[in-house]
Amino acid sequence: MLRQLLATKSIDELHAQESSGNQLRRALNATHLTLLGIGGVIGTGIFVLTGTAAANEAGPALTLSFILAGIGCALAGLCYAEFASMIPVSGSAYSYSYATLGEGIAWFIGWNLVLEYLFAVATVSVGWSAYVVSFFADPLHVHIAPALSNAPFDAVGETMHIVRTGALVNVPAMLVIAFLTFICYIGIKQSANFNVFIVTIKVTVILLFIVFGLSYVDTGNWHPYIPPNTGHWGSFGKSGILAAAGVIFFAYIGFDAISTAAQECKNPQRDMPIGMLTSLVICTILYVIVAAVLTGMVNYKDLNVAAPVALAIDRYPPLHKLGWVVKLGAIAGMTSVMLVMTLAQARIFFAMARDGLLPPLFGRVHPRFKTPTVGTLVTGTIALVIGGLLPVNLLAKVVSIGTLSAFVTVCIGVLVLRKTRPELPRPFRTPSPWFTCIAGAGVCFSMMASLGAPTWWRLLIWTAIGVLVYVFYGYRHSRLHEPDREGVASQERS
Ligand code: ALA
Repeated sequence: MLRQLLATKSIDELHAQESSGNQLRRALNATHLTLLGIGGVIGTGIFVLTGTAAANEAGPALTLSFILAGIGCALAGLCYAEFASMIPVSGSAYSYSYATLGEGIAWFIGWNLVLEYLFAVATVSVGWSAYVVSFFADPLHVHIAPALSNAPFDAVGETMHIVRTGALVNVPAMLVIAFLTFICYIGIKQSANFNVFIVTIKVTVILLFIVFGLSYVDTGNWHPYIPPNTGHWGSFGKSGILAAAGVIFFAYIGFDAISTAAQECKNPQRDMPIGMLTSLVICTILYVIVAAVLTGMVNYKDLNVAAPVALAIDRYPPLHKLGWVVKLGAIAGMTSVMLVMTLAQARIFFAMARDGLLPPLFGRVHPRFKTPTVGTLVTGTIALVIGGLLPVNLLAKVVSIGTLSAFVTVCIGVLVLRKTRPELPRPFRTPSPWFTCIAGAGVCFSMMASLGAPTWWRLLIWTAIGVLVYVFYGYRHSRLHEPDREGVASQERS
């Protein structure tokens, strides 16, 4: 079994699989990829989680949390970029690790990417629902019953124990996932132009919020900048900054989804690193400024709401006209995040099924729509149930810890490969690899550590389920198990 856990897939074979499949048009350049990154990144994190993270963990020092999380992502992004330029194929970090670190690590990363993309769709749907409810109330004056627009469960207290809220189910969250699943199913082409359109709306709305919100900043709200710790780890003070960084790390998730567009890039080796890193820098700058304006407009203690940006606008009557624009921008932005994540998840399932680690059903492509239909439906159905039942604070932490564990693995993987496979061509080389990889893994791991024991337990349970699926299915059906392929894999390693 150890031999198979360490077996790698031939890079030539990966390229051959890509070429023999339905080749997409290589039309994307670095600008498209940057915009794609921003499209997949800006959503719930900035429009929703900023509020709860400021109110419960960091206070106005949320800006420092954004900088810390941005540094962790930039370091991991550099490592990611080396992988992406070395093995520019679909399947993202899962495929990179399969070709380099072995089936065991590949399964671990692939399984955690499910946690990232699939659970992110559910999480974003909850934020989307909050903004839709707010939009219906003002300007449309239609009030959606709270019992039908909130999760029936909430996670409270340090232990995040689950309590009933009295609500029935989050209907808007479920409806939007059903709608997007349908669109993904029938084969929407994620055209670069459509993405440019959505990103333009999102960024314009954020810039409008910054420009108009600035004049309503009361600098008194920034004092104390770091509220004193309440006696509990992660509840304000320095530990609160780290705890909030773990939560709002979610806001950065998605830049790695760019790598699923590898087949559509003109020059993936060059452009994917540029796209990932540029989108990260732009998002970090926007996030830090928004966090500063938000905590300046509203006292952090009042921000424990699902739609904090909308709350800040609603507080100031002269800004009311801007309110619906901000809400619409947030809704549009989150829609594109969910769409990108659903498409990415279906591709991860597709790549894992292609390798035999998941049932072939997940690799089934619709003859007419040319979409991975089963993967899309499974993604949509599970996300729909989760999004309808669970609260955003519980979901976001699970997504963050899953993604961070994949990032830590990628950081370590780059360093390991520099030693074990120095001969592989690397069009993009992570600068100062020892520092970048170790610091990247360290910052990401400290954010993981800040997420608390209950979230770790959920990661462990998720990993245990993954191990069972691998032992009872993946291990037996892996295509590397086939005798002729074992030869290929061993040759590749020797
Ligand atoms: N980064 C994405 C968001 O904040 C997942 O919605």
